[in-house]
Amino acid sequence: MTAGGRPTRLLADAAARLADADVPSPRVDAELLLAYVLGVHRGRLAAADDATAEQAAEYAALVDRRSAREPLQHLTGRAPFGGLELRVGPGVFVPRPETELLAEWARRRTPDGGRIVDLCAGSGALAIQLATTVSGATAVAVERGQEALKYLHANVSELGAGRVQVIAADVTEPGLPARIADLLGGRADVVVCNPPYVPDGAALAPEAAADPVEALFSGPDGLDLIREIGPVIAAIAVPGAPVAVEHDDANADGVMTALTAAGFTGLRRHLDLAGRPRFVTGNTPR
Ligand SMILES: C[S@@+](CC[C@H](N)C(=O)[O-])C[C@H]1O[C@@H](n2cnc3c(N)ncnc32)[C@H](O)[C@@H]1O
Repeated sequence: MTAGGRPTRLLADAAARLADADVPSPRVDAELLLAYVLGVHRGRLAAADDATAEQAAEYAALVDRRSAREPLQHLTGRAPFGGLELRVGPGVFVPRPETELLAEWARRRTPDGGRIVDLCAGSGALAIQLATTVSGATAVAVERGQEALKYLHANVSELGAGRVQVIAADVTEPGLPARIADLLGGRADVVVCNPPYVPDGAALAPEAAADPVEALFSGPDGLDLIREIGPVIAAIAVPGAPVAVEHDDANADGVMTALTAAGFTGLRRHLDLAGRPRFVTGNTPR
């Protein structure tokens, strides 16, 4: 059996192993995994009790898996997003910090009691975050992936019950606008969409490659679904509604073109935390 140990020593060893494996933030991941094993907040690690032998063994096994580049969030089963801790794992897209910028843009434009639609909802990050941070708001989350839907339902019951409803469907299904209007009691005031947008065959870091294929790829240039989404959004939202669509950093022009062709106005490009083009906003046709 592995001997127990002081958190400081366990952390130093783990951070060195993760760095050797080219994990992008080895110290942070070492801390988050140890906090998970010890059941304390990351900020309290310095004051934590020594790990028991069982805890040290569990930690060593998790560090091995992270060194093999399993996503951190698959190991802890949770991903932070805008103040939420969403359930995630293999089979659902892990929400990314860059999408929090899109969420914040949409949150500022959602009126109290507003009706939100999240197309391609995955874990429910956007729908739940928006519906639970705007007073009286409600959301419909649309997702078609069978595994993703399990996480979506679990997150809605745990974090968004009474505020978010789920539709299991392809976002391009012809009957979708009527189903959404039934659930929302009318058209949407705000629409958000983080669709699959990676060009087919693009090289990905091991962690991103662990996301489900249907959450990632969308045709040779990554725009297949985005080209279809404009008319869908126009059919489900009130005229002039604010809309945000995330995209591959090479595709801001492509999204602008697709939404312009669908009659959207006021289109604007937005950068992510690394300064790369990441989402386009605008208003539905009036
Ligand atoms: C990039 S992930 C985004 C998930 C979530 N919105 C987020 O930001 O974390 C895209 C999601 O769209 C779903 N999806 C892909 N094509 C779809 C379609 N045609 N209809 C509905 N959902 C779709 C995938 O299963 C995946 O969960």
